[in-house]
Amino acid sequence: MCLQSRMTFNHFHRNDALAAFLEIKGLGKSFGGIHAVRQLDLSIDRGEILGIAGPNGSGKSTFFNIMTKVPFAADRGEVLLEGKNILTRKAHDIARSGVARTFQRESVFPSLSAVDNVLTTVENSSAGGTHRDNVAAAILALDQAGFPATLHNTPAGALPVFLRKLVMIAAALALKPRVLLLDEPASSLTPHEIARIQALILKLKEADMTILLIEHVLPLLTAVSDRLAVLDQGELIAIGTPEAVIAEPRVVEAYLGKKQ
Ligand SMILES: Nc1ncnc2c1ncn2[C@@H]1O[C@H](COP(=O)(O)OP(=O)(O)OP(=O)(O)O)[C@@H](O)[C@H]1O
Ligand SMILES: [Mg+2]
Repeated sequence: MCLQSRMTFNHFHRNDALAAFLEIKGLGKSFGGIHAVRQLDLSIDRGEILGIAGPNGSGKSTFFNIMTKVPFAADRGEVLLEGKNILTRKAHDIARSGVARTFQRESVFPSLSAVDNVLTTVENSSAGGTHRDNVAAAILALDQAGFPATLHNTPAGALPVFLRKLVMIAAALALKPRVLLLDEPASSLTPHEIARIQALILKLKEADMTILLIEHVLPLLTAVSDRLAVLDQGELIAIGTPEAVIAEPRVVEAYLGKKQ
């Protein structure tokens, strides 16, 4: 191999290795004068769990909203999945391209059964599968979330909060995501239930999912996250190993308020 072709070869492979699986570039969203998310840059590896912390109103959910265009798009910036900007696509195409999310606020239909809740997502997303295929996909997603088979036909409104959360996670899993965005899956849960959410998140990582996890429950965040990012007033103020990040003075200050 001549020197030039070897250099080209090496150059190509180096770029290939460096290209992040998921790259957030200059992402921003304002509401009037409020910069909910400001100039956000992040690089996320395939199979990574990135924890996202930050005080109330720091822009965490807005970040997920503008990444998925549900319910609104970013003002500026790009989200590159394997080098392609998914923000040029419509919301349902973003979901189909493998980026699925759960919502902080409850998003189940209370009168529909657990299966029918997940089926709604499958039917909205599937490219014309038969009803039977779609039901099978919904059941598979519920199983993957660890939802008990005996309660498949129970109306979601009659389920306890933990199981309603599993229905919401199953609805996202039904899209067979490569990137899963979880917005406070552990809120309002008991320690035992949080441990089950923790085990589920780690199981999904094993299944080759890349996970972005917004959470206020710090023990869960620090236990599962490969890296932890902290937002404050829409800005990324720290990123690194969970242990290092939670000890950073700027992070402590953001949570506890500035010392006088
Ligand atoms: N649809 C909207 N219209 C106007 N302002 C909004 C809207 N959505 C979010 N905001 C504002 O943007 C900022 C960030 O809100 P966001 O919900 O992203 O915070 P968060 O970090 O998820 O907070 P929490 O931890 O309480 O869930 C807040 O000031 C919020 O009031
Ligand atoms: Mg939020």
